[in-house]
Amino acid sequence: MADVKLPPARILAIETSCDETAAAVLENGRALLSSVVASQIDLHVQYGGVFPEVASRQHIRTIYAVVEEAVQRAHLSLSEIDAIAVTRGPGLAGSLVVGMNAAKGLALALNRPLIGVNHLEGHIYSAWVYQGDTVNPPPAPEFPLMALLVSGGHTELNVMTDHLTYRRLGGTLDDAAGEAFDKVARLLGLPYPGGPSVQKAAAGGNPEAFTFPRARLEGTWDFSFSGLKTAVLRVVRQLEEEGKSLPVSDLAASFQTAVVDVLLQKTLRAARETKSRAILVAGGVSANTALRLAFTGQTEFPVFIPAFTLCTDNAAMIGAAGYFRYALGARDPLDLDVLPTWPLS
Ligand code: KG4
Ligand code: ZN
Repeated sequence: MADVKLPPARILAIETSCDETAAAVLENGRALLSSVVASQIDLHVQYGGVFPEVASRQHIRTIYAVVEEAVQRAHLSLSEIDAIAVTRGPGLAGSLVVGMNAAKGLALALNRPLIGVNHLEGHIYSAWVYQGDTVNPPPAPEFPLMALLVSGGHTELNVMTDHLTYRRLGGTLDDAAGEAFDKVARLLGLPYPGGPSVQKAAAGGNPEAFTFPRARLEGTWDFSFSGLKTAVLRVVRQLEEEGKSLPVSDLAASFQTAVVDVLLQKTLRAARETKSRAILVAGGVSANTALRLAFTGQTEFPVFIPAFTLCTDNAAMIGAAGYFRYALGARDPLDLDVLPTWPLS
């Protein structure tokens, strides 16, 4: 597909897999015309995580206003949309159903194709999206590439030899990287969502204050973060027993450094061994500044990381992946079901 001339198309995309109600309009798989994300964080903060029923009901209230705003901001009318892309899974069933039904309604009313997209594939394709200058678009990622996906529910390495083609090398055996950030935030008494809170606390801390374990799992491409989380817990308990106050910033910085170190070293090694031409990092944790600096700071491989605003859940990424599926001829029926658990490869 790499050399095939791709058809022009404007995709309206919808994403409701978890706690963000999102819609976007994307041209030709890369140029972002609009992206609207209605966050539900304020509703879930009292539960310390996402409350599924609250999430789906909030999607119902917000979805049409979000879609309308995305189309308006793109300065288009609905009749100028060529296809509707929607997240089919993985995610919370009740949340996915709301976006899926909205997408089906639009596809039916506009007589346009419906395209179901894997949320993980969406995260990867966020690296293709650019905003602004359409005359000199930034270069697209080149194949073969090593894709590191680091989100709240997934941490995995995939080789991509072409569009929409994934060979999974390995993944986490326990906690996902984002999950580890969220759990450590809770241990340190930092607010939900944990990743940004840990990053903020780490900014004033010494990353060498504590030497936390790095599970290298030599001989495999898998990851494990539960030992690291337990090591943080042990230090927290000991300090509490001794009646000492927690050096939250130092703990956050030391933890963050350990996570980034493992992710970078393993990805570099995988890219070398598979003779990849580039590295791609995507998913919510790719918003982490220390992680971005570590990957862009190495000079061995070109690195593609989505714009900061496209790292966490959004619909632009679903529009990008949806476009390449559309270009390949993918069309889904109007009785398409959601897939709450749906691996990428
Ligand atoms: O991709 P995402 O928005 O949702 C999933 O598909 O899971 O990822 C959410 C995860 C959460 O675990 C969140 O704590 C983490 O991404 N995250 C971060 C940062 N921003 C979000 N982790 C570390 N540093 C950040 N700045
Ligand atoms: Zn996500």
